[in-house]
Amino acid sequence: MKIFFGTSVKHLANLLSHTCKIKLSPIVISRFKDNEINVKIDENVRGEDVCIIQSTCYPANDNLMELMIIADALKRAAAKKIITIIPYYGYGRQDRRINLEQVPITAKLVANLLSISGIDQIATIDIHCEQIQGFFDIVFDSISAETVFLEDIRKKNFLNPVIVAPDFGSIRRARKMSKALKNVEVVVIEKIRPNFNETQVANIIGNVKNRDCILVDDIIDTASTLCKSAYYLKNQGASNIVCYTTHPVLSENAFYTMQKSVIDEFIVCDTIPINLKFKKLSNIKILTISKLIEKYILNIII
Ligand code: R5P
Repeated sequence: MKIFFGTSVKHLANLLSHTCKIKLSPIVISRFKDNEINVKIDENVRGEDVCIIQSTCYPANDNLMELMIIADALKRAAAKKIITIIPYYGYGRQDRRINLEQVPITAKLVANLLSISGIDQIATIDIHCEQIQGFFDIVFDSISAETVFLEDIRKKNFLNPVIVAPDFGSIRRARKMSKALKNVEVVVIEKIRPNFNETQVANIIGNVKNRDCILVDDIIDTASTLCKSAYYLKNQGASNIVCYTTHPVLSENAFYTMQKSVIDEFIVCDTIPINLKFKKLSNIKILTISKLIEKYILNIII
């Protein structure tokens, strides 16, 4: 199978080709003078299965468009099957209308766009909500990053740990993690959003006094959910607080929020490239999901 990379995941391309010894196929992605995207596949793909790897992270619109243009180029070059691995699936949080609000369901719109661009199969890491799979009529696999996190958790000797779900949407993730860790107790935070992009902790279900807290979430964006939760947990007598988050969206003032937070360690994956400023935070650790991608690709080939 021939594997092509988009520009958003150059860091993964290096890892996959050097560490995992996966051969990458040549593709030229450039810009016209007016900034429109230009793609040229530099290898014959006629009748072949191909795989594109591209995250639809910031700048989401550009990366999404680039992915669709690559798919179109491959389709027109007569590729047999186009498999796409989207380590971070952007626009996943706009997945429903609530209370008859006049808002789009952008996750569905993006699903329509990806489907008509010729993609035959999609895999992603930790999709924000699993119902998105039903927005597609093609195979859509959401691979869990849990094994990567569990390996790290097991290396740490937590004292009397609890898994904390920072909102109701994370309960399933927390329960799964708890099961893998021999039923570590789960504590749930009731998060409310008084306004768009604003979070507040309303309540906590469970006891964290003198416990090490393992916060689990899929996305860290403004870092408000995790940092406000941690502050609340500390006030309730929590000991150490570490958080495991798959996708480091890290927008807005996340840097300052993380810098002054009471969280001991932020553990994130490399589904999205992280800028240097964040890498310099003393309490951030980046784990790679390249082995998960390698395994997925090897399973398809076999
Ligand atoms: C929300 O449903 C997600 O799971 C995350 O909790 C959220 O996107 C995190 O956003 P922020 O870091 O801006 O609070």
